[in-house]
Amino acid sequence: EIVPVILCGGSGTRLWPRSRASKPKPFLPLIGSQTLFEQAVARCPASAGFARPMIVTGHLHLEHVEAQLKVADKARIVVEPAARNTAAAIALAAYSLSEDAIMLVCPSDHHIGRPEAFVQAAHSAAALAAEGWMVSFGIEATSPETGFGYLKRGDAIEQDGVILGYRTAQFVEKPDLERAGAFLADGGYSWNGGIFAFRVRDYREELERHRPQIARAVRAAVADGTCDGVRFHPDRDLFASAPSASVDYAVMENTTRAAMVPVAMQWSDIGNWRALHEALEHDEAGNTKRAMGEVELVDCRNVFVDSDGPRVSVIGLEDVVVVVDGNDIMVTSVAGTQKVGALAGAKNQ
Ligand code: GDD
Ligand code: MG
Repeated sequence: EIVPVILCGGSGTRLWPRSRASKPKPFLPLIGSQTLFEQAVARCPASAGFARPMIVTGHLHLEHVEAQLKVADKARIVVEPAARNTAAAIALAAYSLSEDAIMLVCPSDHHIGRPEAFVQAAHSAAALAAEGWMVSFGIEATSPETGFGYLKRGDAIEQDGVILGYRTAQFVEKPDLERAGAFLADGGYSWNGGIFAFRVRDYREELERHRPQIARAVRAAVADGTCDGVRFHPDRDLFASAPSASVDYAVMENTTRAAMVPVAMQWSDIGNWRALHEALEHDEAGNTKRAMGEVELVDCRNVFVDSDGPRVSVIGLEDVVVVVDGNDIMVTSVAGTQKVGALAGAKNQ
């Protein structure tokens, strides 16, 4: 049985003004009619061998999580008393589940165009995790991104003559541009997709080995937690005493039993407006309109307009993004989409 552990945290300021502290990226229908969070839950149905999901989220997002969960999902919700990054968030699940369970850790802010490929990779990853491997999903690296982890593919791991995945010879979280360029040129590296499969007791062991303070604090917080219906509340003070670190730095860079499953599933982390534009359909001129109201584009190329109502007209521009949300209008060149996060941070959202 594979238990989906769905992480909902972070603020997603790079998609401002659509994404805001009060309604961040996972809870928006950015591609298709479902929100990214709804898609993350829907990717792991019982019919494909998944147990009911465990959602790990903070107080800030709880309202959205509960509003968007279908009754039929009957998820278990773990409410984080404070944000302590992903090593601790995953540990909350690991100390709540039985030690032989296989966790499939899924971010809630990605888009996957081929969910069937995701399910297939999840089963290979789970089979590896059942053998004690700490497994990442590997995505084909197509540019020297510095916001991702990189996995160097090692020897194949077979089971009954079938290749389930590969050893991860090296895991490098967020390299600088120079190293990222070298990894890309090398050709033997994939991006870490941020989706992991771990057997519960292996995650606990590795965390206890490499970040004992996080392990101790979270284990104690779970032991002293309280339950109200479907929500589990770990002890606030004990959890807050856990150091903050991501699973990538805390566990994956250090473990000696890392493995990877390469998967082609049309993955995008929709890291900025440009990435969203690329993931959506365009007309012949490369333009995309996502609008409640009317949008008029004249002599435009590669222009992306997203408006929640007001009419937008653009004439004679190229490589531009226009976003209208309530009283906020954001216009940027495609190159400028990288800087939107800083802009949003400076405002009070
Ligand atoms: N519950 C909870 N609590 N969730 C969290 C927290 C937290 O404190 N912090 C982050 N998350 C969730 C985010 O909502 C997101 O869904 C996921 O965990 C990953 O966190 P990010 O903050 O988005 O990580 P990242 O993008 O910098 O890097 C990770 O993802 C990349 C792929 O998108 C790493 O795993 C990289 O190696 C990877 O390439
Ligand atoms: Mg991310």
